Amino acid sequence: MGIDKEKGLLTDADELRRQAEERLLLKAEERHSSWSEEAPPRLIHELEVQRVELEIQNAEFRQTRDGLETALEKYTDLYDFAPVGYLTLDRRGTIAAVNLTGAGLLGKERSRLIGRRFGLFVEETERLAFSNFLDTVFASRGKEVCEISLASEKDNQLYVQIEAMADASGKECRIALIDINERRRAEDALTEKRRELEELNISLEARIARAVDELRQKDQMLVLQDRLAVMGEMINNIAHQWRQPLNTLGLLIQQLPLFYGSPEFSREFLEKNTTQVMQLVQHMSRTIDSFRNFFRSDKQAVTFDVNRVIAQTVLLIEKSFADQQIGIVLQAEGDPMVSGYPNEYAQVLLNILMNARDALVAHKVADARICVHSFAKGDTAIVTITDYAGGIANEIMDRIFEPYFTTKGPDKGTGIGLFMSKTIIEKNMGGRLTVRNTGSGAEFRIEV
Ligand SMILES: Nc1ncnc2c1ncn2[C@@H]1O[C@H](COP(=O)(O)OP(=O)(O)O)[C@@H](O)[C@H]1O
Ligand SMILES: [Mg+2]
Repeated sequence: MGIDKEKGLLTDADELRRQAEERLLLKAEERHSSWSEEAPPRLIHELEVQRVELEIQNAEFRQTRDGLETALEKYTDLYDFAPVGYLTLDRRGTIAAVNLTGAGLLGKERSRLIGRRFGLFVEETERLAFSNFLDTVFASRGKEVCEISLASEKDNQLYVQIEAMADASGKECRIALIDINERRRAEDALTEKRRELEELNISLEARIARAVDELRQKDQMLVLQDRLAVMGEMINNIAHQWRQPLNTLGLLIQQLPLFYGSPEFSREFLEKNTTQVMQLVQHMSRTIDSFRNFFRSDKQAVTFDVNRVIAQTVLLIEKSFADQQIGIVLQAEGDPMVSGYPNEYAQVLLNILMNARDALVAHKVADARICVHSFAKGDTAIVTITDYAGGIANEIMDRIFEPYFTTKGPDKGTGIGLFMSKTIIEKNMGGRLTVRNTGSGAEFRIEV
């Protein structure tokens, strides 16, 4: 019937008869003379009509068959060479039909697939899941989708997406197998990359932590080095501070045997001498105390009087500076207060003062002077330290606060002093340490 409608190949009985009669009429005219006179013409005619009818039918059948063959070829081509694998499975998952692409995906010849269970081609660990999937397909009657990996004889896994739907009878289902290996590989690669990245992140964090730790250790080393350098200076300063009182002490003690027995050697003389000696001893003891104080590290932030710290610091060095013909001029305005670490602050003052001294000595400035000016501006305590040693060359102005930057010889400079000072003022106390050239020298400015 279908072919009938589609191509009009089969003719109905009346039409067939009409066509046969027509053709026969044509032939009869051609062969009229050769007809046998013995056979009854009516019967002969009937037979002839039937023969021609058969001929027509035969031709029509041939045509129909040709059409069917073409259609079959087309269908086979469509089915076998579709870009996805097609399979028909029964309720138990047995393969009833499979196209070439499907056979290719399963890695077996088609003839060896028919009648076998599809589940055998599913990766062992996923077989149960697939079986459940098949149950769902037959239960739902709609399209169901899943992704599974096929068991492959080769090492590489084959991932497929399965789209399945039961047929109307509910006895079979048709499934499409789509090769998603590329996509899965890309996804796997992505997951792998993400994992690597995460690992890298973790190791990066560890590396950064280690680097930060190393840096912190280096910083601590720097603090220590700076302290050692300052301590060396301090021992020198103590020597300077003690030289004079020690001399005086010596003289006072020498007086005793010299004057003994003479009229001047009275009780009064002895008492005066002893008092002087004791004053010197106390002074020397105080000097030692203030040096010891200086090296005590600050435990916690306190509010301190900047002028007092300046005075204490200058006391430690003024003798040794004086020995090098360098005077320190203090100009204190008001009572600027700072909350922070007084000993660290003193270390900063000392670093700047010692740099000024080095510059003055290097430039052989006669009658050298360093001015320390302190004042308050709002809540900020400002201290400027100005020398007259020619200032800092513009080329190195940007670099003097860098660690290890020094223009002094290896035995004289470490290049740590200003770096440490900036760290102390800006990081530890939240202030600012800056420098500028005044024209005749350098001026450091501490603002906290
Ligand atoms: N008052 C100053 N006058 C001229 N140059 C200075 C002065 N203070 C610092 N500098 C320069 O800054 C450099 C770095 O100083 P610093 O960090 O204290 O290290 P160091 O004193 O060990 O060289 C010095 O080597 C010097 O070139
Ligand atoms: Mg220095």
